[in-house]
Amino acid sequence: MAISRKVREQMNNSSWIRRMFEQGIELRNIHGSENVFDLSLGNPLLEPPDEFRAEMARLVADETPNTHRYMPNAGFPEVRASVAEVLAEESGVPVTGAEILMTVGAAGAINTILRSILDEGDEVVLIAPFFAEYTFYVAHQTGVSKIATCDENWLPDIESLEAAIGPRTRAVIINSPNNPTGVIYPESSIAAISAALQRAEEEHGSEIYLISDEPYRKLIYTDTPYPFIFEHHPRSIVATSHSKDLGLAGERIGYIAINPGDPGKTELANALNFSLRTLGFVNAPALMQRAVASIQRATVDINIYRKKRDLLYNALTKIGYKCVQPDGAFYVFPKSPIPDDTEFVAQLQKELVLVVPGVGFGTPGFFRASYCVDDRVIEGSIDGFRNLFTQVNS
Ligand SMILES: Cc1ncc(COP(=O)(O)O)c(C=O)c1O
Repeated sequence: MAISRKVREQMNNSSWIRRMFEQGIELRNIHGSENVFDLSLGNPLLEPPDEFRAEMARLVADETPNTHRYMPNAGFPEVRASVAEVLAEESGVPVTGAEILMTVGAAGAINTILRSILDEGDEVVLIAPFFAEYTFYVAHQTGVSKIATCDENWLPDIESLEAAIGPRTRAVIINSPNNPTGVIYPESSIAAISAALQRAEEEHGSEIYLISDEPYRKLIYTDTPYPFIFEHHPRSIVATSHSKDLGLAGERIGYIAINPGDPGKTELANALNFSLRTLGFVNAPALMQRAVASIQRATVDINIYRKKRDLLYNALTKIGYKCVQPDGAFYVFPKSPIPDDTEFVAQLQKELVLVVPGVGFGTPGFFRASYCVDDRVIEGSIDGFRNLFTQVNS
């Protein structure tokens, strides 16, 4: 076979995703799609807000020259300035356009960052449960993933984080609100993680970046302000996108924000610029940069996701599923009522309900159900969840 051994292995390791997808299609073909309740995907349900459509209409009619050509790799300067202005307002940290690079979604942002900071064999610590694609991003950028764990409330376990950090650690990736748990790391967790990184830097004479992956930052269902990382660790980088908060996942638009207090920020910005260009992204899509620039304060209607969260979380916990209440994103991550989560997911498919096993997020024994679906799908899944729960507990 002509493809690389590495990619073949990675594809094999993630083949359960394809299997699930294929089984979903098969179930729909047999039973009709209205009878299959698919809670397995994280595809944002809500359409982009009116502000986005208005901006697009204006931009399409705009005949100003030089709007569709190459630009500085980091993006249009005026777009970076608008993004920085709102981020500075929200975070209370004086971010400027010089610290912003527009990217091809959060995935493009993370790959650009890892490419810029990793030498071959350098280590990146992930905190389980984590977004499974991270392991591939790290491997693609010649790094090695090390795994730390969370406590029973899905907050990072600092002892396990310290144990996972070694002399070759170059970064720790956190993700809050978290996919798959929906948990938001409080300020105290961010402070504890940062303190652990600083102790490790001192011990190993190294520099370790804290990378905060924040595509769900605006999908939050509590009143507690979102704890930003910049004031906690100088070497910190935000990777985010408008895939979820503006419902633009297919448009591939996001950004990187560098900590304005990082003493190495100019060198880092140059490296990110270079990596963004040479990974082949060149720059983030021009039209989308302009479209999101002036609507940085807009979001989809968060209340709709909050109601769906309540619908699914309340129904599952009423049946008896054990689950930490998610305060953000659009997932719940309950404990599987039998130890083998993949077996549970297979049994649930017989009830025509599709979810993802926790093993796919580095955390066996649990499963992820997405509530970014029509209410009809959530409501239709409840009998299946109940039948199987009763069956395995009888
Ligand atoms: C935690 C997390 N990070 C990154 C991404 C990728 O986001 P984007 O589509 O903006 O690249 C996702 C997408 O689901 C995600 O859940």
